[in-house]
Amino acid sequence: MVVLLAALVFGGLAWLISRKRGAATPARIDGIPPGLPERPFGGKPVPAGKLPDGRIVVSGLTKEYRGVKAVDNLSFVVEPGRVTGFLGPNGAGKTTTLRMLLNLAEPTSGTATIGGIRYADLDQPIRRVGGVLEASAAHKGRTGRDHLRVICQSAGIPLARADEVLELVGLTVAGGRTFGAYSLGMRQRLGVAAALLGDPQVLILDEPANGLDPEGTRWMRDLLRTLAAHGRTVLLSSHLLAEMNLLADDLIIIAAGQLAARGTVASIVSSMTHGGRILVRTPETEKLAAVLGSDAVLTPAGDGDVYITGVDAVAVGNAAQQAGIAIYQMVTERPDLEAAFLKLTAGKAAIR
Ligand SMILES: Nc1ncnc2c1ncn2[C@@H]1O[C@H](COP(=O)(O)OP(=O)(O)OP(=O)(O)O)[C@@H](O)[C@H]1O
Ligand SMILES: [Mg+2]
Repeated sequence: MVVLLAALVFGGLAWLISRKRGAATPARIDGIPPGLPERPFGGKPVPAGKLPDGRIVVSGLTKEYRGVKAVDNLSFVVEPGRVTGFLGPNGAGKTTTLRMLLNLAEPTSGTATIGGIRYADLDQPIRRVGGVLEASAAHKGRTGRDHLRVICQSAGIPLARADEVLELVGLTVAGGRTFGAYSLGMRQRLGVAAALLGDPQVLILDEPANGLDPEGTRWMRDLLRTLAAHGRTVLLSSHLLAEMNLLADDLIIIAAGQLAARGTVASIVSSMTHGGRILVRTPETEKLAAVLGSDAVLTPAGDGDVYITGVDAVAVGNAAQQAGIAIYQMVTERPDLEAAFLKLTAGKAAIR
């Protein structure tokens, strides 16, 4: 009897939960999925063989402005199903590259294609590529919702999609406010909302996290990671290296218009920086060096401290204990993206 009662209660709860979930899924409008993209693989990353072709291919891309090569023979590939961070110092040519991808600037030479097609030749580009280049590009006196509806109207997208994307970017409440009254972070969100109107396969964003508060930055990270996990191509430029470390799978780093590095975040960091070093404070540096053996390399770190590479912290701790050497402090320093970025762009960061 008790078992039967428990089963009834549990079954009832499960039914209620499943009903609630079902009710939260809005109806589709004109073939455009509401909210986040469909989840054909139940939230799991899409297998590589099933990725739709949203590959971005940039080949020998060059843009000259009055004799200055803003972008200089740049080539790279951005894969679907991944978040790719596009990094470079101020004036490196990131925005210019993204503008050429979106047919907002004409290349001096070279090509940029999305799914094998130039943006200018895409059929219904708003449904294929969403671009966020300037967050402040909207009529100041128009509400956020109306701004989106105008885009819907011109692109043949149902007006109701405006409210869907407003909800997706957390602007439902502010949708009726004029754009002039939006904060920087709200403008960024509206830009993303506009890019998502056509539910595109490819998203190209120029510094989208600029001006977002910590909650907004996290929201943006979750959104872009979810989109990539569902097979979308996500290319974004940024200066926020710590954020890129968390967000990006792959990186493209440029300096003075040229490619400086490309690859996974881990491969770039490990190729450019030491494999980790230990900062040690001890009054007996020379004695420690003598007991560590020939694998250890000791480099002065200032204030009497010493960096040790070639051996790990356990080896240093054990050797010091056995030799009776006092250790006041021992810190293992891991290489980071900032160190790799600064090395890769050293001497090429001057504004041209
Ligand atoms: N319309 C233009 N006319 C002339 N020069 C331009 C134009 N657009 C960009 N440039 C120049 O091209 C170079 C690259 O600029 P770009 O805006 O692409 O750099 P960026 O990497 O986006 O920099 P930031 O990190 O500051 O946004 C700069 O020297 C810039 O002055
Ligand atoms: Mg820029």
